[in-house]
Amino acid sequence: MAQQIKTVGVLGAGLMGHGIAQVAAQSGYDVVLREVDEATLAKGIGKIEKQLARAVEKQRLSQPDADEVRARINGTVHYRDLADCGLVIEAITESLPLKLEMWREVDEIVKPDAVFATNTSSLAVIDQAAATGRPGQFVGLHYFNPAQVMKLVEVVRCVTTTDEAFETAYEFARSEGKLAVAAKDKAGFIVNRLLVPYMLDAIRAHEQGVGSIEDIDTGMMAGASHPMGPLTLADFVGLDTLAAIADVMVDAYGEERFSAPETLKKMVSAGDFGRKSGKGFYDYSGDKMYLDFARQAVTRLLATQEPDGGFAAQALVPA
Ligand code: CAA
Repeated sequence: MAQQIKTVGVLGAGLMGHGIAQVAAQSGYDVVLREVDEATLAKGIGKIEKQLARAVEKQRLSQPDADEVRARINGTVHYRDLADCGLVIEAITESLPLKLEMWREVDEIVKPDAVFATNTSSLAVIDQAAATGRPGQFVGLHYFNPAQVMKLVEVVRCVTTTDEAFETAYEFARSEGKLAVAAKDKAGFIVNRLLVPYMLDAIRAHEQGVGSIEDIDTGMMAGASHPMGPLTLADFVGLDTLAAIADVMVDAYGEERFSAPETLKKMVSAGDFGRKSGKGFYDYSGDKMYLDFARQAVTRLLATQEPDGGFAAQALVPA
């Protein structure tokens, strides 16, 4: 039987963590959001406040409701504040040694019947579960970026996960209004197993001169109805993250199609991580909305190619 959860701990307030915390608070859970220092925590909470303000502005949320959501999120830099959480979800850097070090500390503090979950994109869940004193109560809860918008959560059962822990995590995801799918503990689970080689292949297609960055993105937006082209998506996921996932997947499967292309490696070495660093396949510098550069590029391209005045540009790329 699934456990009832009242308070959710979220470790990491970065790209994924702040969204995971916001979704949980919007679903009525009390949230303890932990970061390494006050400045990083303030940045994550700032993003949540910005999203809540936008929801109020768009009349999707009333101001009192937004205030309640915000009040349910307690930021901290101390693990000790997680003690009473019924579920703890980690969304820290995708590094196994860092995650193991963190779990060892958290495991000592959090109540023994709590379920632990990792939002890892590619690491084996069992490697984290086995480092805790509660391998039965350990699952993967894999959210998609932006967590506030994307409907899916992959619920990952590793070899030690009990039925009760799996059901608790599955029901939790559903209680957040997410579509939950069960996935096995295999590198990349379901979505990244398919999506990561697709993004890597788009980079290879560009390297091989198959098409320009804009043409490749336009091709998949206009030819396959994807909301973003693969290179915009790579920038959105983070090129450093994509390269790290590729490294794990090529090790796990030994197949060349999972390996990071040269261009990706060079961009990561140069510090071009995509949207979060301001530069990737597109330039996000300045104070424009993050998709503006990619959008403008694709809009221009579609408009110049649409003889009847850019119907496709308007339909595919809303202003
Ligand atoms: N946080 C919160 N809300 C956001 C957001 C963000 N970062 N980005 C967009 N939104 C919201 C906006 O507020 C907007 O809502 P309203 O219309 O109510 O204001 C809504 O989403 C749509 O946004 P936009 O109109 O600005 O832009 P859009 O229509 O192009 O949608 C998108 C943006 C949802 C990101 C869409 O482009 C999309 O679905 N892209 C594909 C995303 C994707 O594939 N994600 C998975 C990546 S892989 C992954 O995450 C797994 C991994 O392990 C690497």
